[in-house]
Amino acid sequence: MLQDGFGRRFAYLRLSVTDVCNFRCEYCLPNGYQGKPTGFLNVEEIRRLVAGFAEMGTTKVRLTGGEPMVRKDFMEIVEVVRNTPGIEKLAMTTNGYKLRETATDLKAAGVDAINISIDSLESGRFEEITGDRRFDKVYESIDSCLEQQFDSVKVNTVLLKGLNDHELPKFFEYVRTRPVALRFIELMQTGDNQEYFEKRHVSGDVVREQLLREGWQRVERGPVDGPAVEYSHPDHIGRIGLIAPYAPGFCDTCNRLRVTARGGLRLCLFGRGSQDLRPFLQRDEDREQLKACLLTALLGKKVSHSLHQGDFGDTPHLAYTGG
Ligand code: 5AD
Ligand code: SF4
Repeated sequence: MLQDGFGRRFAYLRLSVTDVCNFRCEYCLPNGYQGKPTGFLNVEEIRRLVAGFAEMGTTKVRLTGGEPMVRKDFMEIVEVVRNTPGIEKLAMTTNGYKLRETATDLKAAGVDAINISIDSLESGRFEEITGDRRFDKVYESIDSCLEQQFDSVKVNTVLLKGLNDHELPKFFEYVRTRPVALRFIELMQTGDNQEYFEKRHVSGDVVREQLLREGWQRVERGPVDGPAVEYSHPDHIGRIGLIAPYAPGFCDTCNRLRVTARGGLRLCLFGRGSQDLRPFLQRDEDREQLKACLLTALLGKKVSHSLHQGDFGDTPHLAYTGG
């Protein structure tokens, strides 16, 4: 079982399949993707990687990016992960640009849970933040997913001062009739977005205070829940969540490991460096070496990120590490 020096267990793998993205979110890739879109793990490497993690106790995999659906072989990846013994839950995170027309196929292929990013419920504002005009499509894709009855449909909204913080009532209203958890994510500082961070970061306390004022109640967390704190309300079917990495205790329940699109193991979103796993992904015979490498690497995981010391690691933007 994958466990670190602080007794935390890691049954959840977040696997980036590409760092390419077709959106230009202001806090992430304001000038669009500038990298070289080559060298990503191929389907066979992904199969070996996920099999190794599964043998070490991983039961949940999330496919992420960049935008994972820009990969032409995305459905093959889904199939390979789905068919790995031990993987019980397959989730993905997407900007939603081609979800409306693929929701049926994803459900049929065995995807259990989908997170869709949507930072504004106003089409003009959405375009301003993401650089993309497909607001309607993304918005409608959430309802397509609800129709397909995935185990869970969640919406991620990065909280941005002066851009979407006036929309809180609208977001709350959105989950009145929809069984989705809409989670506000505090803007995180990365290497490339320092000025933007200064200008737009707003503490999740703003949301928490408004929720409590309006009669929302904190939901008890389950033992394998992630870092989101969720709130429910008797008049609303859905929930509102808060992901606040700057809040105390955020890392105590850390249960995930990340692998970058080029096969680097990252122990923390805000960490430094990565362990190259690729050498162990070329032959099935190297499985034991891969597992040994994971165990050793985990001993280097720190108790917490160092955001409060102003150290956000070496992540240039979240498209690089997988959000
Ligand atoms: N801070 C907070 N959230 C971010 N995301 C991307 N970059 C950042 C950042 N700097 C979000 C995306 C998406 C999720 C995967 O991470 O908007 O919802
Ligand atoms: Fe793309 Fe996600 Fe980054 Fe936006 S936040 S540019 S959708 S990777």
